[in-house]
Amino acid sequence: MKFSVKAEGIKPSSTLAISAKAAQLKEQGLDIVTFGVGEPDFDTPEHIKAAAIRAIEEGHTRYTPSSGTLELRQAVCDKLKRENDLEYAPSQIIISNGGKHSLMNVFMAILNQGDEVIIPAPYWLSYSEMVKIAGGTPVLVYTKKENNFMLSKEELVEAYTEKTKAIIITSPSNPTGMVSTREDLQMLAEFVVEKDILIISDEIYEKLIYDEDKKHISIASLGKEIYDRTIVVNGVSKSYAMTGWRIGFTAAPIEIAKLISSLQSHMTSNPNSIAQKATVAALNGPQDCVEKMRLAFKERRDYIFEREEKIPFLSALKPEGAFYLFIDVSGIYGKKAGEIEIHSAADFAAVLIEQKYVAVVPCADFGMPDYIRLSYATSMEMIKKGMDRIEELVNEIQ
Ligand SMILES: Cc1ncc(COP(=O)(O)O)c(C=O)c1O
Repeated sequence: MKFSVKAEGIKPSSTLAISAKAAQLKEQGLDIVTFGVGEPDFDTPEHIKAAAIRAIEEGHTRYTPSSGTLELRQAVCDKLKRENDLEYAPSQIIISNGGKHSLMNVFMAILNQGDEVIIPAPYWLSYSEMVKIAGGTPVLVYTKKENNFMLSKEELVEAYTEKTKAIIITSPSNPTGMVSTREDLQMLAEFVVEKDILIISDEIYEKLIYDEDKKHISIASLGKEIYDRTIVVNGVSKSYAMTGWRIGFTAAPIEIAKLISSLQSHMTSNPNSIAQKATVAALNGPQDCVEKMRLAFKERRDYIFEREEKIPFLSALKPEGAFYLFIDVSGIYGKKAGEIEIHSAADFAAVLIEQKYVAVVPCADFGMPDYIRLSYATSMEMIKKGMDRIEELVNEIQ
């Protein structure tokens, strides 16, 4: 039988596959260090868990409006106003089952067959597959390390065609950890307005920025014209250690919000009612838990980068946010680890897990086959152990 050609053209998530492989080796009793998973290792803060327990006890266990409860949509509007200088009405907000679902909804709502979406590479690997699922065509633009992996005007002009419908950006970035500056965003905003296209701004890592001179700016806040063409996607997975709760949200021009709401009403009805209550507590409650986690990530960022800098043949930019270190391993190409000659980041990652039991993500699926990504959302003890082993391997490589 012939199944869906579209589904057959979609690659499964390689980051989830790496996590599964690491878990399987762990089950066999091997001492695995994993830098694979993009998930805070902290527990969800107590007051958020308490709100969920209360929600169950108080009977918030039924369907909610498909775009989410008014209480939560209002809490999202308040958050966007307070933290991002953005004015939205609850009718412009859709709560979904995680940031991933929010993004998928956006592509389904805006794309027609063959519409192009410009994706600056390296990119979070799901973007291109989501665009394809929605019938669009991903247009990958390979940014340069010397530009901090930010899109330049020239690259943008070259990528643009009559079919361009949207650009997607993420800051801080997964996988590079770099943060867009006001100038980067201004250039993009001018282009989007001039061409009358849309921009999707994935702000899921906004609270994880480590340097005093870096600040999260939502591109939608740069003026009315760009606000009208921006779709903001965010969520609580990364900033509140709530990956398992599956809550993401979208803020969009009203016509797009209506389309998303209608799609969602048929696909999933509403996001989990209890998780919505927990998210209200996360957004409206005390924020010191977020700061505590940010400071822990900052300490790890400083440590892991310092260790990487001392390892020969590897090179990376100091990440400014998120919790990833993006390392160029091409300096090792042509060298041998035992019998195996290394020609790609995938080779290096394979040797690393087989010989040193360290799981990292090779970044071909992120658009950069010479790079590996290390998630430092793991304990300092694991980071030290993992970096010792990577150093050991590189020193053994001839
Ligand atoms: C850049 C980016 N956007 C969105 C998401 C989706 O997050 P979630 O669906 O867990 O809320 C992730 C998760 O890894 C991500 O890295």
